[in-house]
Amino acid sequence: MSNVSRILNKSDLQQSDLVQLLQSEGEERQKFREKARVIKIQEVGDKVYFRGLVEFSNICAKDCLYCGIRKSNEKVLRYNATDDEILAACRLAWENRFASVVLQSGELSSPAFVKRVDGLLKKIKQLSNNELGVTLSCGEQTRETYRRWFESGAHRYLLRIEASNQELYNKIHPHTKIHSWEKRKEALQFLRETGYQVGTGVMIGLPFQTMEDLAGDLLFFKSIDIDMCGMGPYIEHEDTPLYQYRHLLKTKQERFELALNMIAALRLLMPDINIAAATALQAIDPQGREKALAVGANVIMPNLTPSKYRKEYNLYEDKPFSEEGTEQQIRQLEESIRLSGFGVGYSTWGDSKHFFRRTRQTK
Ligand code: 5AD
Repeated sequence: MSNVSRILNKSDLQQSDLVQLLQSEGEERQKFREKARVIKIQEVGDKVYFRGLVEFSNICAKDCLYCGIRKSNEKVLRYNATDDEILAACRLAWENRFASVVLQSGELSSPAFVKRVDGLLKKIKQLSNNELGVTLSCGEQTRETYRRWFESGAHRYLLRIEASNQELYNKIHPHTKIHSWEKRKEALQFLRETGYQVGTGVMIGLPFQTMEDLAGDLLFFKSIDIDMCGMGPYIEHEDTPLYQYRHLLKTKQERFELALNMIAALRLLMPDINIAAATALQAIDPQGREKALAVGANVIMPNLTPSKYRKEYNLYEDKPFSEEGTEQQIRQLEESIRLSGFGVGYSTWGDSKHFFRRTRQTK
């Protein structure tokens, strides 16, 4: 029996097993990914859930060394979509039977920002008779802010740890108080205590990142018992400090394949969580998200950001700006999902099964 086959028969995957899975190629990789596909269907079904992504502001207080919208990048035109624009995008999601939206922005924590998000949540609930689910992805906040937003209707939160190894985290972030790994980890804990379905994730293929780091990321997700995960390839951006290390990077194609292996391995490790097919996959391969569905992902976040702002939410190079929100694009995505052998779970929140199991509710 091959090494990978032996690993696939184990019930308790160790770091060294995960490293082997992540490095697998050819037939072995095929076998491994096929198992992840089967487990996904068994555990979370064959439906893909859409979350309409609204990147409502690129104003950011942080200076992460990899990110195109970091505070110090003066080439970026900063925007703040109006409430009406945001609500129109949410209405579009609702009318197209996407049962939920993701509100994402740069990281701010001013009282005005906290209040604004709070007001938006209430309006989104109102416009949809309380039907539209809302996930927030607005960075690190205090316990009180998380509670306030939860009480106003947000029920899921995405906060990527970016790198679970603190040493690596410190290589890709400035060394200041607002860029602390401990604080980020603590924020994930606050979210969980508040009652959110909690999602995190990492970038794959960062400079200085090893296979052991990536296997460690997967074990970190398991140890903090996440409900959702969004992770995608790191893609360099020329106006960021990390760009100087581009010679250390794997090819984009290698990063793409590694990201698919990460998704497949996470599906084996945490069979009943929700896993998103990240947009960054699509930046490398137009069919990237569909390929992720085939190896374990079950969530797609079509971009519904008002089109005039899209090119200013440029986290990495080649980020797709296409008109994903049009009726025609939605039908096309639906069709390509169907061709991949899956269906779209319309009008249901598609909550994380893991969340209900861990909180012992039934759904
Ligand atoms: N490549 C890939 N992903 C990136 N992000 C930020 N910059 C990059 C990049 N250069 C991701 C981060 C963040 C999410 C919103 O976008 O992981 O959490």
